[in-house]
Order: sequence, then structure tokens, then C-alpha cells
Amino acid sequence: MNQFSEKKEEKLLNDAKAYLVQRWEPRPGHEPIVMVKGEGVHMWDAKGKKYLDFISQLYNVHIGMGNRVPIEAAKKQLDDLAYASPSYYNEPQIELAKKLAQITPDDLCQTFFGNSGTEANEVAIKLAQLYREAPKIISFWDAYHGSTYAMVSVGGSARNRQAKGLSIFEEFKHIASPYCYRCPYKKTYPECGLFCAEFLKYTIEKEGENTVAAFMAEPICSWAGQVVPPDGYWKRIREICDEKNILMIFDEVMTGFARTGKMFACEHWGVVPDVETYAKGITCGYVPLGACVINKKMADHFNEKGFPHSYTYSGHAVSCATALAVIDYYEKEKLADRAAKMGAYMMDELRGMMDRAAIIGDVRGLGLFMGVELVKDRDSKESLVPKELDKDEKKDPEKNPMQYFTDRVKENGLVLGSSWGTSILRMMPALIITKEQIDEGLQILEQTLTETMKKFNL
Ligand SMILES: Cc1ncc(COP(=O)(O)O)c(C=O)c1O
Repeated sequence: MNQFSEKKEEKLLNDAKAYLVQRWEPRPGHEPIVMVKGEGVHMWDAKGKKYLDFISQLYNVHIGMGNRVPIEAAKKQLDDLAYASPSYYNEPQIELAKKLAQITPDDLCQTFFGNSGTEANEVAIKLAQLYREAPKIISFWDAYHGSTYAMVSVGGSARNRQAKGLSIFEEFKHIASPYCYRCPYKKTYPECGLFCAEFLKYTIEKEGENTVAAFMAEPICSWAGQVVPPDGYWKRIREICDEKNILMIFDEVMTGFARTGKMFACEHWGVVPDVETYAKGITCGYVPLGACVINKKMADHFNEKGFPHSYTYSGHAVSCATALAVIDYYEKEKLADRAAKMGAYMMDELRGMMDRAAIIGDVRGLGLFMGVELVKDRDSKESLVPKELDKDEKKDPEKNPMQYFTDRVKENGLVLGSSWGTSILRMMPALIITKEQIDEGLQILEQTLTETMKKFNL
């Protein structure tokens, strides 16, 4: 069969529906793309339609698709030693752990490898609970840290937590993120005195300091709305964690590896957590890998006590060899600097677009980690998703301008992300994107915003 054909797409879609468990909420009549080819920042569906990918697949292919560097590294490792039991050490695993100790901030120094961001986060909270001999983890409402039971409970995202029948661990508590555009406390920075950070202190005291193991968050919380915290926020959180003797865990699954204009997002604020977790950009999707890195005091503790945890594929030689090649690529190509430069350009262009597209309420981000919040009205900040619509109506592009926009933008050839149930767009293209490709994507974005405004008289 040809690489591209309508017939091929139809067959694959039918088979997908018959044989794959459907993820999240299916929308009958609106099938996912069947992707058959990827190159740089472009992808093709089975019909041969070309898309510009503004979200690096699932925010992970920072170096673009079809890059020979990780492919050759994986092939070589497959030839040399494809797999070794986690009961043994293997060379790429040791070299990668050493490299991470060198490039992560301050005294973060020892790594446990898993296969995904979810597993890295599971390891992080388990290590924290064992270290502190305390069960509770505090994190942000509306955050996402993975889909296993523990991560559904740690993440405060309603889509995950409110599905009927799920077990939710009550030990995991939540506070509001520093979402200044829509402050849940109706305060304004800086007069607020970082009230939202102080709320962590209050929560720890109410829960009982000795029962809390850690506070866990993304440095820029993506699911809560690409929330870039105000200056001083992370410094104050670090102080509170130290004062209360609880651990601080940063989930850098999305923000790590040059995405925000620094190798790791925590570097923007000079704040060093006790634990960091990585996945996505560590291998850029060429093979799966997750990593949890801990600091010296925790390493000393677990060197003595051991950590009762393992996976068959912990420290997989092919994944670790690929990650080493990818990290080398970030460094040689100076991709963190490139993300900062291209991100600044894209941010300026998006802010300029606000003069022409009244439904852009806010543009925020760091490097090529960007969010655009769409609103019905800039003054009232009313969401583009009408609040009177029920769950099914929200999926109807004739009733929900946000659904219309997201369908149309894809038809127009641009792939964007959105935060579930909100009118927040995620834009996180590969760090190798050119200025011309950014312009091309922004032109499709603006055209689709104009179509949406026209259709709904906005
Ligand atoms: C911030 C964050 N943490 C954890 C995860 C889970 O990672 P994975 O899907 O690799 O398990 C994700 C996935 O999107 C994420 O964005």
C-alpha cells in the first residue's frame, strides 16, 4: 500500500477503533490523526496532509523528528548491548547518571531511571515518603503528573480525579498555583505579598508538619494554564520547605532539557529542589526514558538504607545511550540559547497579534514554552468556553468557539495543544524551529482566530 492514501487512512482508523482502548474522551466523528511520517517540525497523516507541529508531538520532541543523532546512537547500542538486567550496571546508564549529575544544578547527584515521566514521579514521591517517613504530598490543583493511581491523586486535575469509580489517595493534598491572570484569591501581585506561596505554609501547618513528605510541582505549571510564577514565588516556596523541613520536588518532565531557554527551568529562579524528575526531552521520543535525580543528603540516606523499587527496564541501555546523544546534541547546538531567542521572537509576535485579535486575553511563557489564553472579552476575562454549556455541548464546534477554533486550526494545518476544559493554548514547538516556520504557524493561528471571531461575532 502507498505511504499515503485515503483508503489506508480509513482502514487504519477502523482498526484503531476496533483494537485500541480509546484514551481520554472520544469525540465521535472527530478521529485522531493517523500519523505516518515526521520530519523536523512537520508531520504527515495517512492521507498525505502535511501539518506544522507547534507542540513537538506531546511536548517532547525538542530536537525535531527524523534526527539521525539519536537514531544512530540507539542503533549502535542495540548492536553493542541491547539490554542488561537492572540487577547489573550497564555503561550507558552509569555515564548518563554521571552526565545528569554534571548538568543538573548544585548537589543533585544520583539518578533512578524508569521509562516515563509518570514512573519518575512515582519514584520521586516514594523516595520522599521513605526519606521523611511521612505519607503526605502537597501539589497544585489542576496539575498533571501522570496517569497511574498515585499520580492521578498527586495531580489535581479534575479530568483525572473526577472520573467515576477511581480510587483517590487522600494523603495527597493541593493548593492553588500562582496563576496571576486569574488569581484564585482575587489578589494582585506584588501587593498580594505572595499570598499563594504563604498558603503552602498554612497547609503544611494544618496538615501537621511531621505528616508531610514533600511539595511537588512543575516550575511552570502547564496543565494549570502555562503558569509562569511571579518573581520571588519559588524562592519563598523553597524557604517554606526548608523552614518546615519538607522536601521540594520539581517535575521538569515538560520544562526540562532546554525547553524554557535554560537546560532546566529551575535555573530561571536560582532555586534548587531536593528532587527533580525528567522524561520527554531527555530522549525526545526516540526511545522511552524517565529519570528521578536526588540531592546529596537523600543520596547519602539511600546509599545506606537502599531503595525498595525496581523495573525490568530501569536504566535500559538503549534509552540511556540515546539520552547521552540527545544531551550532547543540546549542548553542541546550544539549543537552550536558541529556545530563549526564538521564544522571545515568538512572544513579541504573539503580543503584537493581540492588537489584531481581541480574543487573545494573555500571552505568557518562557523560552519555547508558551501559553495563549483566549477570552470572549479582554476586560471581563470571560473564557472562550461558554460556561452554560454542558459536557457534550462543549464538544460541539457550532456551540463552543474554543472547539471550533481547535478543529479549524488543525484543518488549516497547524497542530496546537490546549489545556483540557480551558481556553488556554499551548505552543511548544521543537527548539530547532526557524523564524520562517514560526511566522508560518503564527499566520495560520491568526487566520483561524479571525475565522473564529467572525463565526461567533466576537
Ligand atoms: C508535567 C508532566 N509530568 C508528568 C507527565 C507524565 O509523563 P509520561 O506521559 O511520560 O508518563 C507529563 C506528561 O505529559 C507531564 O506533562
